[in-house]
Amino acid sequence: MQETDEPPSLALRSAIDGLLEGASLAELKRASARLSAAYRHTGPAMRPVASQADRLAYVAARLPSTFEASRAVLAELRRRAPMLRAESLLELGAGPAPGLWAARPTFPELRRATHVEIDPGMAELGRRLAAAGPAGAGVRQVWCEQDVGRARELGSHDLVLLGYVLGEMSAAAGDPAIDAAWDVTAEALVVIEPGTPAGAARVLRARERLIGRGAHVAAPCPHGGACPLAADDWCHFAVRVSRSSLQRRIKEGRLAYEDEKYAYVALTRAEPDPCAGRVLRRPSAEPRRRRLRLCTVAGVREEVVTRREGARYRAARKIRWGEGWAPAAPKG
Ligand SMILES: C[S@@+](CC[C@H](N)C(=O)[O-])C[C@H]1O[C@@H](n2cnc3c(N)ncnc32)[C@H](O)[C@@H]1O
Repeated sequence: MQETDEPPSLALRSAIDGLLEGASLAELKRASARLSAAYRHTGPAMRPVASQADRLAYVAARLPSTFEASRAVLAELRRRAPMLRAESLLELGAGPAPGLWAARPTFPELRRATHVEIDPGMAELGRRLAAAGPAGAGVRQVWCEQDVGRARELGSHDLVLLGYVLGEMSAAAGDPAIDAAWDVTAEALVVIEPGTPAGAARVLRARERLIGRGAHVAAPCPHGGACPLAADDWCHFAVRVSRSSLQRRIKEGRLAYEDEKYAYVALTRAEPDPCAGRVLRRPSAEPRRRRLRLCTVAGVREEVVTRREGARYRAARKIRWGEGWAPAAPKG
């Protein structure tokens, strides 16, 4: 397959449509409902994808969202670690490999991708998708049907991605997997989980564990200190995902989009350039003012930017949840 200028989300969508040709809509709907119920369950060590219908439903209903979340996170990593060159990618718990699709536009220097996936059926779908679109063009790919805990056997990789997989592992298996992932990280490790309290807690656990092993936090945090959020709050973000007509039919939804909520941490070996403040909520749009809730080196704070502040107000009107914002110096 040749490289194309088609936006990666459209290219992925047409590869997904090709893969699903001939699949039964009724079966996809049933499997998708089953998967949604399983993902709402927050207990450890569940492996919800069990049949070929489940795999296809995952590709149809979840892959566009995990791809967009991965793409948003990798773009932020690139902003915060501009010197990072990712010639090799290791995707752990790869599923159908959204990491490859997300990394290609962000890291055009990518030449090698290794995907670790315990389920051979899912690995096969990932291989077929990559062959059907531009994501795999010019990239030497290896698929390893094995446990992520055995990552050390695979040598080191510039960029390592643990996307939406810790939630399918027990804490007892998750911690060693995080350590193994860091041991094979040459430049950056990214952990992404659903943007639920449980998903954010798993991300926080990985963050704290790896800071203890010398990792630098590139994003989303502006610092490597303790997370300042209150116990009843959790750090998460959202990305808008447009729905294909097939997705709409599978989910029986009318909206042309959905918001994928995700939690993440991007850790680097080299000192990154973190943002000074991270926007923690969708900014409130009040008349003539914007209220921003920010995570900063000095803790969580609220900043109100009024119309009188001219250029700063215009910038605040454009800022979105999850982006970096330089907080104003404290007054007085
Ligand atoms: C929720 S899917 C995420 C797939 C992909 N990373 C994404 O972001 O869409 C989790 C995947 O991890 C795989 N997985 C779960 N536990 C694993 C383990 N211990 N070793 C390797 N793969 C695992 C599952 O088979 C499944 O394909």
